[in-house]
Amino acid sequence: MYNKSLQKTLFDLSKEFLQKDMSNNEYQDLVNVLNFHEWKYYVDNDPLISDKEYDTLYEKLVALENQNEVAVLPNSPSQRVSSDLSSQFETVTHWNPMLSLANSYNLEDLGEFDKQIRKLTNLEDKKIAYFVEPKLDGGSVSLVYENDILVRSATRGNGNEGENITANAKAISSVPLSAKFSDHGIFRAELRGEAVIEKSFFTRKNKEREKEGLVVFANPRNAATGGLRMKNPNDTKERGLDLFVFQLAYAVDKNGEDVLSSLESHSNAMIILESLGFKIPKKENQLTDTIEAAFELCKDWEINRENYNYEIDGAVVKVNDFDLQKKCGSTQHHPRWAIAFKFKAKQATTTLSDIEYQVGKTGAITPVAKVDPVHLAGVTVSSISLHNEEFIMQKDLRLGDKVLIERAGDVIPYIVKSFPELRDGSQKKIDFPKHCPSCNTTLEKSDDQAAWRCQNLQCDAQNLQRIIYHVSKEAMNIDGFGKSYVEKFFDLGWIKDISDVYNLDYEKIGELEGFGQKSVDNLKSAIEKAKGNPLNKLLNSLSIHHLGKKASKLIAQQINSVFDLVEWTEENFTEIKDIGPVVAENVMWYFNQESNIDMLNRLNEYGVNVLQLEADKPKVVKEGAVLSGKTILFTGTLQKMGRKEAQSLAEENGARNISAVSSKLNILVVGEKAGSKLKKAQALGTVDILTEDEFITLIS
Ligand code: IVH
Repeated sequence: MYNKSLQKTLFDLSKEFLQKDMSNNEYQDLVNVLNFHEWKYYVDNDPLISDKEYDTLYEKLVALENQNEVAVLPNSPSQRVSSDLSSQFETVTHWNPMLSLANSYNLEDLGEFDKQIRKLTNLEDKKIAYFVEPKLDGGSVSLVYENDILVRSATRGNGNEGENITANAKAISSVPLSAKFSDHGIFRAELRGEAVIEKSFFTRKNKEREKEGLVVFANPRNAATGGLRMKNPNDTKERGLDLFVFQLAYAVDKNGEDVLSSLESHSNAMIILESLGFKIPKKENQLTDTIEAAFELCKDWEINRENYNYEIDGAVVKVNDFDLQKKCGSTQHHPRWAIAFKFKAKQATTTLSDIEYQVGKTGAITPVAKVDPVHLAGVTVSSISLHNEEFIMQKDLRLGDKVLIERAGDVIPYIVKSFPELRDGSQKKIDFPKHCPSCNTTLEKSDDQAAWRCQNLQCDAQNLQRIIYHVSKEAMNIDGFGKSYVEKFFDLGWIKDISDVYNLDYEKIGELEGFGQKSVDNLKSAIEKAKGNPLNKLLNSLSIHHLGKKASKLIAQQINSVFDLVEWTEENFTEIKDIGPVVAENVMWYFNQESNIDMLNRLNEYGVNVLQLEADKPKVVKEGAVLSGKTILFTGTLQKMGRKEAQSLAEENGARNISAVSSKLNILVVGEKAGSKLKKAQALGTVDILTEDEFITLIS
């Protein structure tokens, strides 16, 4: 779904967005970035950014959406309540919504939380009792008991409705099938808890699975949430799930009267639940009466995290008193009386066993460390990029070294340091290769660059990477032409360079195992479609060092055919604003290689567009344009032309299109059903407001 380079682009964008104030025209990108991180977290199980960073980005999104200047996209993460609902289980409605928790990361955040509680409860300078628990990293479960019998269990689902997993919950040994709630005057109770798997059990289980050739679980959390949703309860049993209860959410007597308040506090409720046979996350001294002390308890959990036999990703601080909890209430998202304290990224030590040298699409050699697999903040890490030779020298790495690796929330795992003091003499110095591991060409490195490069354009490894990039979403966007297809066709010798993509023998592909007629047809039509891509896409897809999407666009606008570049001199390039000598040098080098020109000729021959299309040509601003120097914005539905056409006309007449109403806006053109933008512009009083007809008159 997200190829490597797209992932990188989105990751880079995230970093950029984290650093700055967002503008409305970045809204769509922000939606894409957040959806990507959700996918990394929930589907790919390999988050690239910390929860905190995700939260920050999410807040930026909500801020943009609340300004009412952007049309909220239907795929915005704000439009979704995260859900694990499927059609496999019957859906049930929770009696009380199963909420999430707000996050905190330091004492300051907790201080704010404490302040807020005092405000909500009018307890300015009185003591407030806080209860601290581990935040277990598994799957949320609700349990309903009626008449002392477990009658229903459900997953969190979307918070309001969950999946009925009663049969599976009964297969979890730590879930009492009956409990004497009646001893406490309770007729019906709803409990909340977390299904988890012991770390040691998980490791053992994974080893067994590996031996049997089964797919191993990514992490204990996945194994647990998957275990809750097995079709056959026997399979749930097999997973060895445990269920910890962390909340008595609801309790009434035979008449439906609330019993919860009479239990007074969360700590009391937990004592009762424990006495009724439930497993609860316990430790001495969980109750404190200052937020500082609660913070210390959180830190304590963090320090001892590794000694605990279940995965925990934080601690939870709860207002203990039920009356106070009630006073605090909840938002749609989380209770105001509880907060999660999230732990820092994890570090681990492992052994650097080998180094693999990967050849990139522009010939750069990247050393990748192979380490003994370790479990780190939710994923198993076995290879880590070492970037370049200098990194290896700076960190003084040797083969066989014990190394400290970290998976800080914000980046992919990296090596923090080696431990020279732990060397026993068997460690070996790392000799960076002098020759390309694929084609054996002598590697080169210029002084201003960190990477060693293979400059052989015929290098197999490079060609393969270039083709993978060429067909990817980022480049020519050939739908369905994934990396595995490229590798397969490359191995078979069917594609040796980019041009071969357009000269495939579809009959032969159809004979391959796993290729039906339908997939061949789809591939063919996706390739045919890509042939018509605009010139800037083609330029970008060639993997010319330093030539990115933006520069490709700028250059493409200045030429009629890709072959024009054969004649281009440095000045031609550097005359273009934003194109510097480095891009110039690299593009010139590329177009100086005969093999590249041959390849481009073949592309042309196979029908790939190498020309500048009319629609992509830069707009020529008319002499003495009426809108010159003005900013303009179109809102509402235009009747006589499309939005794009209108913007294009405005540009031709010297205006600059912007996307938000602010003091910077000069002209607002309003179509039908104009909404908040019109109101805002009217309120500003500085914006010229035109109808569509007035706009047309103005420019003609
Ligand atoms: S209290 C009304 N306590 O964390 C909110 N939640 O991020 C009740 N979790 O959905 C949550 N350990 O599945 C609470 N000791 C604990 C927890 C805990 C894990 C999970 C829970 C919740 C999620 C929120």
